[in-house]
Amino acid sequence: MSTEQKIREMQNKKRSLQQGGGVSRIEKQHKSGKLTARERIEKLVDPGSFAEVDSFVTHRCTEFGMEKENAPADGVIIGYATINNRPVYLYSQDFTVRGGSLGEMHAKKITKIMDMAMKMGCPILCINDSGGARIQEGIDSLSGYGEIFFRNTMASGVIPQISVILGPCAGGAVYSPALTDFIFMVDHISKMFITGPQVVQAATGEQVTEEDLGGAQTHNQVSGVAHFKYSTEEECFTGIRSLLSYLPQNNLEDTLIYNSNDDLNRLAPELNSIIPDNPNKSYDVKEVIRHIVDNGEFLEVQSLFAQNIVVGFARLNGRSIGLIANQPKVKAGALDIDASDKAARFIRFCNCFNVPIVTLTDVPAFLPGIDQEYNGIIRHGAKLLYAYSEATVPKVNVILRKAYGGAYIAMSSKHLGTDLVYAWPTAEIAVMGPEGAANIIFRKEIEKAEDPVAKRQEKIQEYRDRFTNPYAAAARGYIDDVIEPEATRPRLISALEMLQSKRETRPPKKHGNIPL
Ligand code: HXC
Repeated sequence: MSTEQKIREMQNKKRSLQQGGGVSRIEKQHKSGKLTARERIEKLVDPGSFAEVDSFVTHRCTEFGMEKENAPADGVIIGYATINNRPVYLYSQDFTVRGGSLGEMHAKKITKIMDMAMKMGCPILCINDSGGARIQEGIDSLSGYGEIFFRNTMASGVIPQISVILGPCAGGAVYSPALTDFIFMVDHISKMFITGPQVVQAATGEQVTEEDLGGAQTHNQVSGVAHFKYSTEEECFTGIRSLLSYLPQNNLEDTLIYNSNDDLNRLAPELNSIIPDNPNKSYDVKEVIRHIVDNGEFLEVQSLFAQNIVVGFARLNGRSIGLIANQPKVKAGALDIDASDKAARFIRFCNCFNVPIVTLTDVPAFLPGIDQEYNGIIRHGAKLLYAYSEATVPKVNVILRKAYGGAYIAMSSKHLGTDLVYAWPTAEIAVMGPEGAANIIFRKEIEKAEDPVAKRQEKIQEYRDRFTNPYAAAARGYIDDVIEPEATRPRLISALEMLQSKRETRPPKKHGNIPL
């Protein structure tokens, strides 16, 4: 064969590999509303930047007649590319090839690209669309999953790991996404469950559709397994690119500094009137966020889950920050199990990846209730205290209104190592709310009074006047300053600028024992 013929042979082989499982299976994929593995990569990364690795790899299984079956690229496309001009590594399972099922070589390709991402210190993107363990390959499939889970764990806190569920992801296979930092899902395309509807019905008698059991809505709103939900694959890819823009490449790098056109000294006079005069009235903390951050841009994470706390990424003077804010509009902003879990996980992500943490506090309490106690609010709430205490990135807190009792401590208080705590003049920092406090400390006086109702109101007001303000805490240095609400943006920018050189060391240890 001449050199020219050899080159043509190579080109033909590559062309054929591009067809994946063939035209009819590609058509089936499109008919079910899904893009193919390669189309997904093309739409996700910077145009023309994808370089494929291991396209010639195929299985070597000889069970169940597999020796006669081909599996182009063994059902998974791997390689590297750029997104926003920064390198990323990725894999994309090809459902048109044996249902994207994972066998020995498929797994080896995935672990190879994960190892490369780790070595080069770049994010890894994992596009899942698979029928699970390749049944013909038995234990080799299981071993492959184990190798992936181990690497997911090793990569945790070293490089950002992003899972994109664009098809089935069932059984033990769900644990790779679950070990990564963020899970993206798309309505009516993504499905994640440990066991599907048929097994659920056989085991428990419950009837449920695939979408209700493990679709995007369920995992974004109910279970809290996923972090982002979109209506189309294209919107999902835009979301991934946006998320990456806030992150560093790895745990040793800082985030990129963007050129912000938003004036760093910009005041937001609207914030001076955003807190209602009536302390029992709510407002939307997301409005506060939008007034503060660069150009009002906020990428909310887990926007549908535990909405009593808001978490997400934004920028201040061009630098990424992670925001955690109580949402008075939902459950009065009280901390419950799900809110504690959601915020603690987000704080730990920010700390791993050098993203400063800004907290906006308006919290009446940890949520009371039998359900909360039985399900372990003590254990889950502790995660929040742990995560804030453990974080060594710059931490700034602004107390907007309520900060009571244990919840005051949990929400990035000075006592947990927060570098700067500011309060608005509307802040109420106290051991408990005026109603509860008056009932306890003035109980006898109220009972003895001629008009106990009037006396109670008088005592509540007395307590409110005395303690529900920021000045008792400021007098002890528990908050660093009381600031005009409109000046929150410049004050935060200046604080974070000052904290850039922060160095904090902790006693050496293998790892802590966060109350999981
Ligand atoms: C081998 C598989 C496969 C698998 C699908 N295929 N799943 N091949 N192993 N796990 C093949 C099919 O034979 C078919 O081949 C092609 O992929 C497309 O599958 P269809 O069934 O035609 O597609 P669809 O109707 O869309 O249904 C998709 C599906 C279904 C719901 C995912 O294929 C399915 O139920 N698959 C089995 C799921 C499963 O039980 N997996 C193992 C779970 S155990 P042809 O040649 O016809 O195109 C597990 C353990 C992991 O995953 C443990 C990790 C710790």
